[in-house]
Amino acid sequence: MTPISFSFPTQEVQCYLNQPFRRLSEITAPADSVIITDYHVYRHHHEAMAGYPVIKIPAGEAHKTQQSVDYIIEELLKLEAGKDTWLVAVGGGVITDIAGLVSVLYKRGTKLALVPTSLLAMVDAAIGGKNGINTGVYKNIVGTIRQPSFIWYDFELLRTLPAEEWVNGMAEVIKHACIQDELLFRMLEQYNMHDIQTDLSLVETLVERNIRIKMNIVTADEAEAGDRKLLNFGHTIGHAIENLHHIPHGHAISMGMVAICNLAVRLNILEVQEAVRIVKLLAKYHLPVDLETDLQQVYQAIRQDKKRQSDLIQLVLLKKIGEAFVYPLPVDSMQEHLKHIMA
Ligand SMILES: NC(=O)c1ccc[n+]([C@@H]2O[C@H](COP(=O)([O-])OP(=O)(O)OC[C@H]3O[C@@H](n4cnc5c(N)ncnc54)[C@H](O)[C@@H]3O)[C@@H](O)[C@H]2O)c1
Repeated sequence: MTPISFSFPTQEVQCYLNQPFRRLSEITAPADSVIITDYHVYRHHHEAMAGYPVIKIPAGEAHKTQQSVDYIIEELLKLEAGKDTWLVAVGGGVITDIAGLVSVLYKRGTKLALVPTSLLAMVDAAIGGKNGINTGVYKNIVGTIRQPSFIWYDFELLRTLPAEEWVNGMAEVIKHACIQDELLFRMLEQYNMHDIQTDLSLVETLVERNIRIKMNIVTADEAEAGDRKLLNFGHTIGHAIENLHHIPHGHAISMGMVAICNLAVRLNILEVQEAVRIVKLLAKYHLPVDLETDLQQVYQAIRQDKKRQSDLIQLVLLKKIGEAFVYPLPVDSMQEHLKHIMA
């Protein structure tokens, strides 16, 4: 059971790949641990959690709130959890984000382990230490950065993942390929959704590659002063769409990536053939690539983006597949661009 290790300034993070859930107790014994999960994941995997105290919250983004944080803290108090207790988050990105935040707040810090159960959490949400909750329409507006001690990958857990959640996860996989890994992009062009869903060894290869891409970026720039911004590829317009249309994150990011590629083509930065390959790949993995929307509202949402710096919006553009950079653009000019890149 040799993990891959990644060094952050504050913490060493171990990634245990392809480990059965039951072996988790060799590190986090039930007597010293509390599992935090949601009702969906619990329903499918409660047998694996036998022996552990378990705190459950309702599933979904709507529950990524202060109310859930308060509930978990009350339950931890009832369980007399201490600073030495392992908080073990078993779930998708909603659970890993909430549990990460609770692990910072409860008794000013407990031990944290993440067991991502969705593809999206495996390749993205569990990596990098960002945690958070939503307040009203503002996503992840409250949160911190805190690395877990380890991340545990049991790919068998994915067997119960609903089809639409595989699609959501693929949006972030394609994002990683676009910004850093042309080889991964070509691999994805060779396979399809069915190949990936039915071959866990292929999933392991893909997930490990994505872990390395994201870890390499975030270990070098934990606080998002530089290259970590590249991970926001497709997210500025994507988040605006997500807030307006209340569609799944992966769908919104897919359309955000298409729009931002169109912008890069319009600015003569990206060749049109490269943008076409990206659109085709997204569509191949069942992700939407166009949308009828209210451009004025998209523009207003972009103006509210938390990554905006005074009059400039920090956009992530591609020079080519596998090579991204940050391109500051006057936010006012987005109004005109949107008419061409999203119409
Ligand atoms: N911290 C970060 O860096 C980061 C990065 C990306 C996304 N996120 C956050 O992650 C969240 C999205 O993550 P998500 O897509 O995993 O959402 P999620 O946690 O809501 O999971 C999606 C659905 O799948 C279910 N599910 C998860 N694993 C399952 C399994 N193995 N079997 C059956 N059902 C399962 C969940 O119960 C839920 O209904 C968002 O809140 C987003 O903001 C965080």
